[in-house]
Amino acid sequence: MPIQPNPDGWVLETEHTAYAFGLNAAGLLAHRYWGVRLPYIDDYPPTPAPPNWASFNNAAQLTPEEYPGVNDIKYIEPCLKVAFADGTRDTVLRFDSSEIDGENLLIHLQDTHYPLHLTLHYRVHPEHDLIERFPTLTNTGDQPITIERAFSAQWHLPIGDRYRLSHMTGRWFDEFNIQREPLVQGVKVLESRRITTSHHHSPWFAVDRGHADEDSGEVWFGTLIWSGNWKIAAEVTDFASTRINIGLNDWDFAWRLNPGESFTTPASLAGYVLEGFGAASRTLHNYVRERLPHRDGLHKVLYNSWEATFFDVDADSQAQFAEIAAGLGVELFVMDDGWFHGRANDQAGLGDWWPDAKKFPNGLTPLIQRVNDLGMDFGLWVEPEMVNPNSDLYRQHPDWVIHFENRQRTEGRNQLILNLARADVQDYLIAHLDTLLSQNNITFIKWDMNRNVSEAGWPSYEGEQREIWVRYVEGVYRVWGTLAQRHPNVIWQSCSGGGGRADYGILRLADQIWVSDNTGGTARLRIQEGFSQLFPANTMEAWVTDMEKHLSLTFRFHVSMCGSLGIGANLTHWNEQEREEARRWITVYKAIRPIIQQGDQYRLHSAQGGEGYAAVQYVSKDQRESVLFAFRTHIPDPAPPFTVRLRGLSPQARYTVEGFDGARSGLAWMHIDLLLPLGNFDSTIRRIRQVEG
Ligand code: GLA
Repeated sequence: MPIQPNPDGWVLETEHTAYAFGLNAAGLLAHRYWGVRLPYIDDYPPTPAPPNWASFNNAAQLTPEEYPGVNDIKYIEPCLKVAFADGTRDTVLRFDSSEIDGENLLIHLQDTHYPLHLTLHYRVHPEHDLIERFPTLTNTGDQPITIERAFSAQWHLPIGDRYRLSHMTGRWFDEFNIQREPLVQGVKVLESRRITTSHHHSPWFAVDRGHADEDSGEVWFGTLIWSGNWKIAAEVTDFASTRINIGLNDWDFAWRLNPGESFTTPASLAGYVLEGFGAASRTLHNYVRERLPHRDGLHKVLYNSWEATFFDVDADSQAQFAEIAAGLGVELFVMDDGWFHGRANDQAGLGDWWPDAKKFPNGLTPLIQRVNDLGMDFGLWVEPEMVNPNSDLYRQHPDWVIHFENRQRTEGRNQLILNLARADVQDYLIAHLDTLLSQNNITFIKWDMNRNVSEAGWPSYEGEQREIWVRYVEGVYRVWGTLAQRHPNVIWQSCSGGGGRADYGILRLADQIWVSDNTGGTARLRIQEGFSQLFPANTMEAWVTDMEKHLSLTFRFHVSMCGSLGIGANLTHWNEQEREEARRWITVYKAIRPIIQQGDQYRLHSAQGGEGYAAVQYVSKDQRESVLFAFRTHIPDPAPPFTVRLRGLSPQARYTVEGFDGARSGLAWMHIDLLLPLGNFDSTIRRIRQVEG
């Protein structure tokens, strides 16, 4: 039974973890336990009853409430803030009833005076060791209620104030940098206000007691299943209670809850492991691969034309790249930006999603046919949420963009953002993209989003203006979801100038994420490692390009082979020797991609540690096969020797490791330091195979 009621409340159990809360003597829903699963239901601690310490810190302030509102003498970060029609701005929610339905627990609360009903949803994912939480607010009265904050969850750590927070920061071209910092009394805020998830922070947290590493130590971790503005407020209270609030960003947010209406927030997903950050990542990877609606198959090796041609695409030049790519073993040819009506550079065309008549006088069919004849699938780049003022669409519908009426419309990359909160804009995009996908044999779409919002207004909307942040994202989901449902054979990639929209919300629609516009091999090592905290390798599209050309082709291939391999270089510049090498690596990749894309990932040595070495290992789920990648960037000689210990092997089974003599047990390989001689900007790949007997 994943959910068990007991006299102290409820216990949610996954295979290895448990989460408990209950009603305390004051009738408040209070947290009890989050950690390893215990043998008996009576093992879990009772619901705490904090003392009245002083009038400045009374029991309300000290209670670890599951979903605190604003009320009482209490100054912790609340999950909920609403304003009732008469101006009252606090909520006094009391337990009403509970329901258990398989892996779902619903806790119903009711305001003691006002017609506000709150349902807290808990969904247990037993085999994934994860718990999902989100609330629904319902207005059962006859006057509107304004929601000003509604987080998805407040996750409580065991009492204490000596925790360390890991999170990720970045910027365009430099995403997913891991930061680790102590949490001290106060609130640490991470957020996006950009209408997308953003390159700048990722909606991910991992909290440990200060000494966890990749392989050991308790880690509490989580994320938000949402692709818009989000917020994490990690608070350590004045009485050593550490909690992570996560949910929709309340910055500039408000939602008018009309009589009879409900509002459900995105869900937060969180888990606990005893075996360090690596185990936390693998827990999330398994969830993404098994629970988010991805195709089961392996991702194809693709070629993308962007860095080779930029906007200068036409049928002949693309066909030339396609021919070379097919000869290398590429399986999917993707034409990037530049193919649609009026698109010669970044100043025109966005919004007019039909082939440019000058570049493609006979439409896309001849090129697609050519690509298919070469034995490859065909994919296309689009940026549906955007419009250039110089486009037919904008000339017809200038009111369709996000804007404030009396302010200049700030352009980013010469473009404005279509207001996808509007149903007519959604319908336009669905119709045009549906036509494109119906008339052409396209099996891959790269969905881009190349600027962040400004002047976040929706002048014609008569409701609450600040709803735009949420309604926009729901609009993106509707357009994308409708197209995905109508074209189930299409593989979708989420891109926002690289990794600006990497989150579990978009992974409900997208199969892959374009991790960064920075395709330089050494930069990628760092970026890919950060990305892997949250996302499995099959979702990580990685191209070999001509960026950082001082790196050998081998090094660049090895870096990109750690994800879903692609090529983005100008192939006409590659000589026969380089093409031969590419052919060889693509063949190797095809042989090992099930291990990489579907196996367990172990980060053996951090590229973000600044030492100049990095190593990552993938192990097939049946532990029969594994592959190790190791890299050295630049270290002034004499460099210290580089050794790694393998992970994830079956201890008693015997394995061979390429480049090392003999067969040894998995246990031996996991306890022997393997010396990997690497020069500057050098890399190696070693296959590990189980042997019989
Ligand atoms: C963004 C993407 C790139 C490329 C360009 C096209 O920057 O991240 O990969 O598609 O747009 O304009």
